[in-house]
Amino acid sequence: MVKSPSFSCSACGSVTTKWAGRCESCGEWNTISEDAGISKGPAKSLGGKRGASVKLTSLSTEEAPPPRTTCGIKELDRVLGGGLVAASAILVGGDPGIGKSTLLLQAAAQFARSGLKTIYVSGEEASAQVRMRAQRLGLTDAPVQLAAETNLRDILTTLEAEKPQLAIIDSIQTMWADNVDSAPGSVSQVRAAAHELTSFAKRKGISVILVGHVTKEGQIAGPRVVEHMVDTVLYFEGERGHQFRILRAVKNRFGPADEIGVFEMTGSGLDEVANPSALFLSERGTPSPGSVVFAGVEGTRPVLVEFQALVSPSPHAQARRTVVGWDGGRLAMILAVLEARCGIPFAGLDVYLNVAGGMKVSEPAADLAVAAALLSAREDAALPADTVVFGEISLSGALRPATQTENRLKEAQKLGFTSAIAAKGGKAVGVSGITLNTMPDLTGFVGEIFGAG
Ligand code: TYD
Ligand code: MG
Repeated sequence: MVKSPSFSCSACGSVTTKWAGRCESCGEWNTISEDAGISKGPAKSLGGKRGASVKLTSLSTEEAPPPRTTCGIKELDRVLGGGLVAASAILVGGDPGIGKSTLLLQAAAQFARSGLKTIYVSGEEASAQVRMRAQRLGLTDAPVQLAAETNLRDILTTLEAEKPQLAIIDSIQTMWADNVDSAPGSVSQVRAAAHELTSFAKRKGISVILVGHVTKEGQIAGPRVVEHMVDTVLYFEGERGHQFRILRAVKNRFGPADEIGVFEMTGSGLDEVANPSALFLSERGTPSPGSVVFAGVEGTRPVLVEFQALVSPSPHAQARRTVVGWDGGRLAMILAVLEARCGIPFAGLDVYLNVAGGMKVSEPAADLAVAAALLSAREDAALPADTVVFGEISLSGALRPATQTENRLKEAQKLGFTSAIAAKGGKAVGVSGITLNTMPDLTGFVGEIFGAG
């Protein structure tokens, strides 16, 4: 069978069946070319020669857990799944200036102090700049070896000779592989460099941490193309105006995904935040309309955050919907359910929703807290200050119970809350010191909390 030819874009990597002057995915001109080899059928491209048979094993073969090293920065160790796995490849992505280099220099120093031979390769800053940063962070005594280099071939040769246990590459966008015919930072360069580094790491038993910049517009060849090559993908996020930084595992072959580590950027580097709930709620004053505390779970850890809503008559023909820290589509859905199932219209009203502290929430269990914040803002009635809310809302207006109820309640109780509103159903749990009030649907919730239907 003859397959249709395949073409791919050298800028974004998207594959098409037709040649075109301009890539439809990224808009670049003259980047599409035919993929040699792939256009032929698989049997033919392998030349019809027989290969050696591959050794097969059963699933029951005993495997020891992979050896891990902890660095002592607990927030980082936990996000890695309990420390750094030997010979693993990790990508740390994030906006420029968010603190990736700072985090990784601190991590490099800690891993080196824990006995791992560590090399830090900076392609962005001169060695003197990195040393100045180390001085500011109080890390000059750590046995980290430093290099300022972008030539991938030279870096691999050096790593091969030095045999470190951990190599940090800051950043993958600055690496230049001389066998690839495009500029550093382009998708083909990033992909080639990441492939070389990760396969080298696996072969030689070195752990590598790659730093990758992402831009909101995705203009620079993003680390997205690297994600499938590495074992672990961590994103470092935060709002520029806030000191809080969140390190989030979005993929981890060696531990739970969705785990977060919370840090605070100070004048002398990143400090761990051991109790993020207390931090996120620290700015909360007296109970005010529109403010609701959501008992959330991030990975294995419960985290309380405050949702703030503001609802006001709109002067515009089309009312505004502005969201920070939560999904805009999900907000639209909750507004629609409130209108269709509970008869509470938001037409002609501007709606602003914000997660306090610069945290991003993606759990569907936050639905009920969002609805509560919207209603509280609309009715100008504050919820009791000692109450947390969680539960998912379905399109029918029914409430679905959240996972890890006990974890959420315990965290709320620890922070001084005495009651919780959640969805009916799921496993019955009780935590002393906290009254759990469960509801089957949104209408019931509205009636109970705001005395309206
Ligand atoms: P950096 O780690 O260079 O970011 P990235 O590598 O992600 O581009 O951090 C840059 C910001 O962090 C910079 O604006 C200054 C600030 N910063 C501090 O506030 N305190 C510190 O101790 C350090 C080293 C940086
Ligand atoms: Mg940097």
